[in-house]
Amino acid sequence: MHSNKEISKAMTIKLEDLYDDLPEMPPFAEGIRRAPARRFTLDRQDTELALKNALRYIPPKWHQQLAPEFLDELLSRGRIYGYRFRPPGHIKGRPVDEYRGSCIEGRAFQVMIDNNLDFDVALYPYELVTYGETGQVCQNWMQYHLIKKYLQALNQEQTLVMDSGHPLGLFTSSPHAPRVIITNGLMVGCFDDPQNWNRAAALGVSNYGQMTAGGWMYIGPQGIVHGTYSTILNAGRDKLGIAADQNLSGRLFVSSGLGGMSGAQGKAVEIANGVGIIAEVDYSRIETRLKQGWVNRVTEEPAEAFTVAAECQQQKKSIAIAFYGNIVDLLEYAVNHKIKIDLLSDQTSCHAVYEGGYCPQGVSFEERTELLRSGHAGFREMVDASLRRHYELVKTLADRGTYFFDYGNSFLKAVFDAGVSEICKNGKNPIDGFVFQSYVEDIMGPILFDYGYGPFRWVCLSGKDEDLAKTDRAAMECIDPERRFQDRDNYVWIRDAQKNKLVVGTKARILYQDAMGRMTIALKFNAMVRKGEIGPVMLGRDHHDTGGTDSPFRETANIKDGSNITADMAVHCYAGNAARGMSLVALHNGGGVGIGNAINGGFGLVLDGSERVDAVIRRAILWDVMGGVARRAWARNENSIDTSIQYNQMRKGADHITIPYKADDKMIEKLVTEKFKDKKSKST
Ligand SMILES: NC(=O)c1ccc[n+]([C@@H]2O[C@H](COP(=O)([O-])OP(=O)(O)OC[C@H]3O[C@@H](n4cnc5c(N)ncnc54)[C@H](O)[C@@H]3O)[C@@H](O)[C@H]2O)c1
Repeated sequence: MHSNKEISKAMTIKLEDLYDDLPEMPPFAEGIRRAPARRFTLDRQDTELALKNALRYIPPKWHQQLAPEFLDELLSRGRIYGYRFRPPGHIKGRPVDEYRGSCIEGRAFQVMIDNNLDFDVALYPYELVTYGETGQVCQNWMQYHLIKKYLQALNQEQTLVMDSGHPLGLFTSSPHAPRVIITNGLMVGCFDDPQNWNRAAALGVSNYGQMTAGGWMYIGPQGIVHGTYSTILNAGRDKLGIAADQNLSGRLFVSSGLGGMSGAQGKAVEIANGVGIIAEVDYSRIETRLKQGWVNRVTEEPAEAFTVAAECQQQKKSIAIAFYGNIVDLLEYAVNHKIKIDLLSDQTSCHAVYEGGYCPQGVSFEERTELLRSGHAGFREMVDASLRRHYELVKTLADRGTYFFDYGNSFLKAVFDAGVSEICKNGKNPIDGFVFQSYVEDIMGPILFDYGYGPFRWVCLSGKDEDLAKTDRAAMECIDPERRFQDRDNYVWIRDAQKNKLVVGTKARILYQDAMGRMTIALKFNAMVRKGEIGPVMLGRDHHDTGGTDSPFRETANIKDGSNITADMAVHCYAGNAARGMSLVALHNGGGVGIGNAINGGFGLVLDGSERVDAVIRRAILWDVMGGVARRAWARNENSIDTSIQYNQMRKGADHITIPYKADDKMIEKLVTEKFKDKKSKST
């Protein structure tokens, strides 16, 4: 057996290099949101295991002192976060030049990690949660420091392996390989469920990365504003009969959630020129959005919310109203007073419905937190009852003409889990989908993803406003607004981006683009870096994209050939991006819809102005998008077939997509009906 002395000697990258003495426990600042206690379900043996697991990062001289402290954290918060190692003060993504490192990528990733934990950006910064209630950068503060040390040591011949928040080590690769390969929350099939995952997380061996939290590409709520804007705008065009060149003027959108991503809803409805009422139970989140100017008014009274909304609708004025209260109460009022809602959705964190993601009706946010802390046995029933009522109200409004869509938060699945099987198309289980559509099934899938339009994004690593302004202009010059209505929307978006004051945290921008658009813009940016017009840029995307995510309840909800329950596309996207030399690749379980419900992946590419990076852009960006379009085309999605036919013509001799022949529906139906009749008559 090796002694701890030998083990310490065998490592040159370790936590103790940062400290001479055990650091003091830093104070928790007032007013910083804290994650609720996670469910503690470990037995005695597992509790011992969790402690031993956490102490793997800690030099033995501190074990006596830290073991009881870690045990306290585990028992009171359900996880060991290692609060003592939290850097004191406000974490912020600083200009890349202020970070130490042996290569630009190692320094750039530190900017991204710190931005994901910025107090103005992160949902629960002390618990390393960036967004989506449970989406963590890594599991604990020991990992945070160690990752940074590894990133400082990382050179162009090495790859850092990130295993659910744990830096496994640096291994030799090549300048053409990714500098970091990340996985989060992946589970072996028969254990791929929330219960087993919760145990693994409490043991400190699995991390819920959401999408861009654990993939280090979160850029604040702006990242989701463009998608939300496109979704509600196109929902209006598709479902309310608004013309393709018009916006949501005079229309009412109602939803819930002003958190990490949901906080984008107010801003998005305002940019789309509509009227929005967003319910939120946590006043601190309303305050954040008010300060940012992402909501314009707050009320606790449903009557006031709907009166102000009606006035603005009449005057064709845009406004985002925060309703401080429960979405179910707001909808009760709308139903009882026969208020016409045009578009309705929900963005509570239903992917973690019993972990605090959904506040049940009749309970304040503070009471919810206390119920979670005390492990109240009836909490689950309260959530289920509230979801069932919520569904009844949605159904009534939909019957009266409201268009309701699931916003990728697993709302419909949560209602099903709460005991409502009539929400399923087949009345039994979700395999054939739900009676209401998800936003991807109805809107984003056919209108955006099938063409390859997705949430392309970048961060100006210099931290300079002028770099962001230059990249905005350069990107705008790459878009032809006359080509399609989607291009016109994207053109307007980037033209007005600065005016709309979307930046929270690092100088970042989101811009929906298709495959060619993304490649053209990336090459242009890299040339600008080369010429010294701007500093280096981190390029990436949300995992919530055409090719990055297999999720039958969301991204792949409009895949109808039966392959919606497979995850080959996301894994190929990830492997293909690694093979083509993206700087960072990530693959996660869960994302916005919870463990076992999705596999999602993303990338990061550092634009350093080199010709090597030009080559990566040329070979990787088209693949990243078109792999997804090709799969969608193979599922017989009409718009993807169009896109693939054009792509095969444009990329003749370079790329080639297999396109499906179409069978005659009537011929197939007749054949199978006859055969089944035959079978039936033989068996009787
Ligand atoms: N916007 C998108 O395109 C998108 C994409 C992916 C996923 N999602 C999903 O949307 C959900 C929200 O994401 P987030 O990052 O904003 O999470 P979040 O946890 O930061 O925000 C959810 C908010 O809902 C509030 N809330 C909970 N129950 C409520 C209730 N009954 N009434 C009113 N408010 C209530 C919470 O207080 C919280 O502020 C997640 O499930 C996420 O996965 C959205």
